[in-house]
Amino acid sequence: MSKTILSIEDLSKTYQTAGGLVSALDHVSFQLQEGELLAVMGTSGSGKSTLLNLIGAMDEPTTGVIKVNGIYDKTMFKEPKATIYRRENIGFIFQSFNLLKDLSVEENIALPLILKGEKDGVVKEKVSKMLKIIGLEEWRTHRPVELSGGQQQRVAIGRALITSPPIILADELTGNLDFNTSTDILQTLLKMKEAFNQSIIIVTHDPSVATYADRVLFFHDGKIVDEYTCTEETEDMNAILQKFQRILERPA
Ligand SMILES: Nc1ncnc2c1ncn2[C@@H]1O[C@H](COP(=O)(O)OP(=O)(O)OP(=O)(O)O)[C@@H](O)[C@H]1O
Ligand SMILES: [Mg+2]
Repeated sequence: MSKTILSIEDLSKTYQTAGGLVSALDHVSFQLQEGELLAVMGTSGSGKSTLLNLIGAMDEPTTGVIKVNGIYDKTMFKEPKATIYRRENIGFIFQSFNLLKDLSVEENIALPLILKGEKDGVVKEKVSKMLKIIGLEEWRTHRPVELSGGQQQRVAIGRALITSPPIILADELTGNLDFNTSTDILQTLLKMKEAFNQSIIIVTHDPSVATYADRVLFFHDGKIVDEYTCTEETEDMNAILQKFQRILERPA
């Protein structure tokens, strides 16, 4: 019996802009199970990044509830609670990597542990293990600029997962990468998910990435408009493509 780690209930986000109100998320509800890999696909501007930002408490919902392990704390979006919530629950992987350019590979990966106040010995040991998993042991003292896009993304994954957060949020994780590198990154992510039983939400435009998921949610205009449960069958790719195509062809 799987356990619900994240429950999104009637979540909406409206932005006030110079041009008026923009409804980025419109009464969205779904649940994420422990150990589940959920893919989120949808048209540009359909609210995917907004959703991840809300779950990561980078932004506050207009209405609705986000329950983690059955508990909703409405103060979780305010500092300093938001930072603590993120530190305990969330690993964020962005498309743009967001690595600190003046720090080495190992320093970038160690950062969340240092912020958590872990002892030097523990930091060293965990970082060494992580460098092995992501295959960058020989690059440990290099700066991010000296690395390829795929290598930088692996550092970003290492940094996001070093504290073994229960929930991983990845926005266009492989958007900048070629097919082989992207497969490599997904395999690394799956390997870590198996090891730590993490729950992952991955936003992607790429149906081949979505085939790695247990389930795909399709967003349009701030709403969930379709859903697909993946099997181990080879038809998945075509089924996901077809559903995604239908969403892309919808009028805004
Ligand atoms: N900070 C903000 N202020 C005002 N409007 C915003 C803000 N962030 C997002 N929006 C608007 O909310 C809507 C949803 O944006 P969001 O970035 O979530 O889309 P997305 O699905 O991630 O798109 P993409 O696939 O292009 O990344 C868009 O109309 C966008 O213009
Ligand atoms: Mg986005």
